[in-house]
Amino acid sequence: MTIKVAKRALVPPFIVMDVMRAAAALEAAGRSIVHLEVGQPSTGIPQAAAKRVGKILGEDPLGYTLASGLPALCDRISRHYLETYGVVVPADRIFATTGSSGGFVLAFLSAFEAGDRVALAAPGYPAYRHILTSLGVTPELIAVGASTRYQPTVSHLKKLPRLPDGLIVGSPANPTGTVIPPDEFRELAGFCDRNGIRLVSDEIYHGITFGSTATTAAGLSDTAIVVNSFSKYFSMTGWRLGWLVVPPDLMRPLECLAQNLFIAPPAISQHGGIAVFDCREELEANVARYARNREVLLRRLPECGFERLAPADGAFYIYADVSDIAEDAPTLCTRILTEAGVATTPGTDFDPFSGHRFVRFSFAGTTADMEEACTRLKAWRAQTAIR
Ligand SMILES: Cc1ncc(COP(=O)(O)O)c(C=O)c1O
Repeated sequence: MTIKVAKRALVPPFIVMDVMRAAAALEAAGRSIVHLEVGQPSTGIPQAAAKRVGKILGEDPLGYTLASGLPALCDRISRHYLETYGVVVPADRIFATTGSSGGFVLAFLSAFEAGDRVALAAPGYPAYRHILTSLGVTPELIAVGASTRYQPTVSHLKKLPRLPDGLIVGSPANPTGTVIPPDEFRELAGFCDRNGIRLVSDEIYHGITFGSTATTAAGLSDTAIVVNSFSKYFSMTGWRLGWLVVPPDLMRPLECLAQNLFIAPPAISQHGGIAVFDCREELEANVARYARNREVLLRRLPECGFERLAPADGAFYIYADVSDIAEDAPTLCTRILTEAGVATTPGTDFDPFSGHRFVRFSFAGTTADMEEACTRLKAWRAQTAIR
């Protein structure tokens, strides 16, 4: 007798994780691989925060916290909004989550019904559409391109057959690194407010920008849900901690969901989260390294034949249009991995329409790795016919 597997569980894989597995298999067989596939800091939690966590370990029983997190953490995040953006976000609108990934589940469950339609850009972070699908919400993909910096606009929304129930934006975005300019963001947030569209703003790459201003939706709309995380700028990826800024009408439903689904985010990570806001020097040194890495790739990727690059205003990604050099990005990425020893991610992870034409390079690693990857890619291109 076959026992069913729920259809909601049959979501596509997160391709970058499959690339990581293939790269690990090559490494286990003795090959040297340079990792430009994964989007995580190669640095750990800053020193002072690590020290603080060590002290807490000996002192605190680390039981459950409130579902919304330690009050001291919510207070500290609230202060962060004032200090960083000049925006008042009361601590009782902050909700700590198990990474932003846990935040998405709570945000989507509390804001959308099964059958709702939620618009989002393609290319975009794949988990948005896969989580929505598993919850019975229909992702309405908007094909965006270089002309709008790979970001959705009001005019895209107006062209949909009917206005959606929600809109997800990421700025800086994964995989393109592009930022929504402040005026456009204001227009988008105002349009969503006026038309009953719940805006979900993924701000996980805030803090990692290169000359552009990342705007928080918390300063533009009281109905928007803001999603953020300690995984990127704060360099605490494995600690699985994030937060939401929650509109007042969603706070209680979201709290009840969190109590039942997760009880609370990890207590030890929350203590680290409180301390990490005071580690600016180390965190800014990380950003300076990303800036150097970005400069290396923007200068050297064209020498390797990758010439059509998205602006990379922020985050740690360069999204390259490879359609002039290859027909199929997944095949190209496999060849680059196996023949040149450089792991990259095909655009198909981010975009079911045009992803086969793109490759994402992550520059979260060391500067030496960026140089080495370009040296390998250049040598490989010189001796390889791709088409
Ligand atoms: C745009 C974006 N949002 C959310 C996440 C999830 O991050 P976490 O769950 O570690 O906060 C990622 C991870 O790469 C991401 O790129």
